[in-house]
Amino acid sequence: MRLLLIGAPGAGKGTQAVRIAENFGLTHISSGDLLREHVAQETAIGLTAKAYMDRGDLVPNTVVLDMLRKPVISAAEAGGYVLDGFPRTVEQAEAGYDVAKDLGVSVQVAVHIEVPREALVARIVERGLTSGRADDTEEVVTRRLDVYDEYTRPLLEYYAARERLITVNGDRPVEEVTWSVIVQLQQVQKQLEG
Ligand code: AP5
Repeated sequence: MRLLLIGAPGAGKGTQAVRIAENFGLTHISSGDLLREHVAQETAIGLTAKAYMDRGDLVPNTVVLDMLRKPVISAAEAGGYVLDGFPRTVEQAEAGYDVAKDLGVSVQVAVHIEVPREALVARIVERGLTSGRADDTEEVVTRRLDVYDEYTRPLLEYYAARERLITVNGDRPVEEVTWSVIVQLQQVQKQLEG
């Protein structure tokens, strides 16, 4: 199965991606984690990405698309992926689709994790006490949330109209969110196999 997670900063994409990947035997690919590895290793990608990430802005499309191409193809060949953090814009979704469709690795289902803004800010600010992430401050998370509303939220309509879109309430204990996603994905899996 090939799926992606959509959710605002702090919605629990990374947390749930690990659990979903384990349950269905998929590979978890996080654009944010990959970018942070590049920043830590001071690669060309990392040197370009750092300033955007520190401000809470989106890294340019070409950088992200080039970075994800190989991991996505490998994961699809190995049984499927849970993509966390990509796409962030309709433009990215379309560019990703153009690359993926010819290779037969395009996404089959999008999972939206919905959490109210106040809860998101609280989660990120709390994580910022220990995460070491330069973007986990109240000021930057405000920017990240605005970027989500302006650029990423339109993806919900995009996926509802194209592939399957599942929405779950992410403002519950982690286990409950996971369970709700897994139950719905099991149904999708049956439809895909049938
Ligand atoms: P990225 O790393 O993708 O960050 P994000 O989307 O802002 O998401 P977070 O990692 O902050 O949150 P999450 O939804 O994964 O939640 P998590 O599970 O961690 O992106 C960072 C930056 O990289 C972007 O701003 C951008 O600059 C760049 N970037 C990345 N992808 C890009 C792309 N495609 N294009 C361009 N630029 C890109 O949980 C958050 C916290 O909440 C944790 O402490 C967790 O323990 C807690 N938590 C989780 N679930 C629950 C729950 N149910 N109840 C209570 N607490 C919970």
